[in-house]
Formats: sequence, C-alpha cells, structure tokens
Amino acid sequence: MTWEEQLLEFWRLAPGVGVSARLVDGELAREDEFALGRACAVEAMGAVEAMDELRVASREPCVGDKGEPIWPADVAGSISHCRLDGSISHCGVADGQTYVVSVVARKPHFGVGIDVEGTHRRIGKIEAKVLHGQEAQWCEVNGEDPEHVHGLKLMIFSAKEAYYKWQYPRTNTWLGFKDVQLTVDAQGGTFEVEMLREQVPHLPQGTRVSGRFCILGPVVATQVITPYT
Ligand SMILES: CC(C)(COP(=O)(O)OP(=O)(O)OC[C@H]1O[C@@H](n2cnc3c(N)ncnc32)[C@H](O)[C@@H]1OP(=O)(O)O)[C@@H](O)C(=O)NCCC(=O)NCCS
Repeated sequence: MTWEEQLLEFWRLAPGVGVSARLVDGELAREDEFALGRACAVEAMGAVEAMDELRVASREPCVGDKGEPIWPADVAGSISHCRLDGSISHCGVADGQTYVVSVVARKPHFGVGIDVEGTHRRIGKIEAKVLHGQEAQWCEVNGEDPEHVHGLKLMIFSAKEAYYKWQYPRTNTWLGFKDVQLTVDAQGGTFEVEMLREQVPHLPQGTRVSGRFCILGPVVATQVITPYT
C-alpha cells in the first residue's frame, strides 16, 4: 500500500466521515491551494451524502473573519494543505508536491479538526514556543532515533493545530500552543489534549479530548474528531 492509500485509511478511521484528498505536483500559489481545498471540501461532503440517506448541504464553505471555513449548518469539517519535500529520498515523493485534504462529518454529531505537516519541516526554532518542557522530554525519551524524535515533536505541533481547528467553531477563541498539553500513546497512535487555560467558552479548564496521529514517510497527520456535545 502506498503512503497516500495508508493516509486515506487513517482519515477514515473516524466513523461517518467523508474524505477527499489530492496530491499535486509543485508548490501551489495560495489561490490554487485555497481552490483545491474547497474542491476537496465539496467532494468530502458528497462522500458523506453517499453514505447517509439524508442530504448534506454540499456547498463550498465561505471564509470567516479569522480565515476559518464557514461550513453549511449541518456539516462540521476541516481542511489542511502542506508542501512535501522531494529531497527526502525514502518517502516516495518524486519532486516537491502539495498534499491537500478535507475531512467532513454531519453535525450535530461531530466536531472535526485535521492537520498535515511535511516531515521535512524542522520545528527547531519554534519548538520552545510550541512544546511544554514535559512534551519535549517525552519525545526525547520515546523517540527511537533523532528522526523519530523530530517526527514526534512535529506530531505534537500538528496535533495542537488540529485541536485548534476542532475547537474554533465551538469557542470562537484564539489559543496559544501552550494553552493546551498533550499526552501521547505512541504505540496506539493516539493522544489526549488537555485544556490548561481558564475561561475558554464551552471548554472548561481540564477538559480532555482525544485524537489520532500517524507518521508516514513524507507526512505527519493528526485528527481530532469527536462527538459534538
Ligand atoms: C489556523 C492554523 C491552525 C492553520 O494551520 P496551518 O498548518 O497553518 O495550515 P493548514 O494548511 O493545515 O490549514 C489551513 C486551513 O485551516 C483552516 N482554518 C484557518 N483558520 C481556522 C480557524 N480559526 N479554525 C478552523 N480552521 C481554520 C482553513 O480552512 C485553512 O485553509 P484555507 O484558508 O485554504 O481554507 C494556523 O495557521 C494557526 O493560526 N495556528 C495558531 C493557533 C494554534 O494552532 N494554536 C494551537 C493551540 S490549540
């Protein structure tokens, strides 16, 4: 199975979701990246409709004040894009490519946040802003080699971005990377995100939410998809 096929399986781990992804050559201009994300979103809504006897409103999401997608009222969804580096020889990416994906589910059952990062991305300079000391230490202890340690750190960064996208439609609140803390089960490919900040609307301090991750050749991918209670 190729990494793209494995990644599709990963996105489909959450029940009831529709997924659409594209891998295209080159680095896309921002407007092309945006348009492809929207095309994936509409296709993912079509996939939900196909597995569900009720129609979903498969309309292109609008753009909110903070750049967030505004989904049709009966849909929760998320979009991510990332550039992949062809210089990573083992990963099966021929040349620089761009991966774009959207995952959606029917509301009110789910909230959805996803994120993809290219494994070539180095987080050295931002690590101290993104990871708590405890999180960084966990990666150092549990990583099998320096590349795996890096992958785990990038995964925590990605998981926080997925969580951010998941929480935003519910709280309408900007969160910093250190407002939440991750606990990771490396073998199970899961994590829990704990809200550390006080007074975030609808997400009391101490609330824990689960997510999943995978590290596959050129990508680190994370998803937070939960019942929307
Ligand atoms: C918004 C953000 C999470 C996007 O992540 P990214 O890795 O830069 O980019 P991605 O390609 O993965 O995702 C971009 C997509 O996120 C979506 N997005 C942007 N703002 C969003 C928001 N407030 N809520 C939900 N989704 C949002 C959009 O669909 C966007 O794609 P589009 O403009 O083509 O529609 C990131 O830029 C950011 O601002 N992070 C800071 C806040 C944060 O992550 N805190 C972590 C602690 S919880």
